Amino acid sequence: MTEATNSYERVLVTGGAGFIGSAVIRQLLSETDATVINVDKLTYAANLASLPGAEENPRYHFERADICDAEAMQRIFHAHRPDGILHLAAESHVDRSIDGPGEFINTNIVGTSVLLRVGLDYWKELEPAAQERFRFLHVSTDEVFGSLGPEGLFTEETSYAPSSPYSASKAASDHLVRAWHATYGLPTLLTNCTNNYGPYQFPEKLIPLMIIKGIAGEPLPVYGSGENVRDWLHVDDHARALRTVLAGGRPGRSYNIGARCERTNLEIVRTICDLLDEVLGDAHVPRREKITFVTDRPGHDLRYAMDASRIEKELGWKHRIPFEEGLRSSIEWYLENRDWWQAILDGVYQGERLGVGAAGDKASRSS
Ligand SMILES: NC(=O)c1ccc[n+]([C@@H]2O[C@H](COP(=O)([O-])OP(=O)(O)OC[C@H]3O[C@@H](n4cnc5c(N)ncnc54)[C@H](O)[C@@H]3O)[C@@H](O)[C@H]2O)c1
Repeated sequence: MTEATNSYERVLVTGGAGFIGSAVIRQLLSETDATVINVDKLTYAANLASLPGAEENPRYHFERADICDAEAMQRIFHAHRPDGILHLAAESHVDRSIDGPGEFINTNIVGTSVLLRVGLDYWKELEPAAQERFRFLHVSTDEVFGSLGPEGLFTEETSYAPSSPYSASKAASDHLVRAWHATYGLPTLLTNCTNNYGPYQFPEKLIPLMIIKGIAGEPLPVYGSGENVRDWLHVDDHARALRTVLAGGRPGRSYNIGARCERTNLEIVRTICDLLDEVLGDAHVPRREKITFVTDRPGHDLRYAMDASRIEKELGWKHRIPFEEGLRSSIEWYLENRDWWQAILDGVYQGERLGVGAAGDKASRSS
């Protein structure tokens, strides 16, 4: 089966200055004829430098706005008249949600509810053919399902059991999306994806943090004993999956996305060490000796692993980028694009440990 290819003319992407949203926009601008409207508040995690050349593209429009601002969302929907919504705007870092859950509840839950209300009003006013075509795709995570033991996979039928303030806020937003379909008939789609990696990822996340610390020959802090398992997918494969679900997904349905690529955190860090040693061959070899074990994340889920057979069988999507190849090319990207991440290290984030404080909301207020 081939991937579904219905094309959208005007796609509104929320969170398009973030890691995954920018990958989606880069693909939409380079591989389709769609007009793209990027709605982003520009939090600490945003970076317009992740969209090189977009500003000059007549098919790209940027709206700096908060998804919690209903008036701004109404204005943007009516000004740009999208036929597809890809909703990625979120507070996305588990450790920050431990230090300051307030922003997660605002953006992830309240913000999604605002988009659903504004989206529903907008959809109701469309002509029947445009109503038929319109889709609202909400982008979510495997973390809503909680932690697996050593065996088994999450399916679309797995019960929700989120552990962190981040995953609980995403779970709440998923339920709202389902309710807007069941109650009001809004043609929503829902995706739950595994951990992403790739270029332009903010350096607070495991893989870019370890690459950047590894390049500098700094200690490489691994939480607990490093045995936690995550299932990894290259961001460009995720972006393609989102386009596939938008084009061919059935309203009201959810789709798990993943590449069946389970690795322990320690395996990931060791592989990064070995690749950096090979590529750089410098005074810091062997980097494995820089690995240190630090206090675990509170409530750290043991294992996530995804069964992605629904999207593969029903929509013909399958990941294309093998993990070792994607990790190597990501390391090369971070080596070749030091300006991109050095600007972040010189500004909003210096690689410090997050997620060990009490929930005082300080982290999210100061970031
Ligand atoms: N990163 C992953 O591994 C992963 C995996 C599965 C699902 N997801 C989901 O994918 C989405 C994108 O994740 P990401 O890693 O790109 O996140 P990110 O933190 O890199 O980017 C989030 C973007 O949303 C914007 N934003 C935040 N609050 C906003 C608000 N109130 N109004 C408007 N814009 C706002 C930020 O400015 C930023 O540009 C999230 O919904 C996340 O839950 C992420």
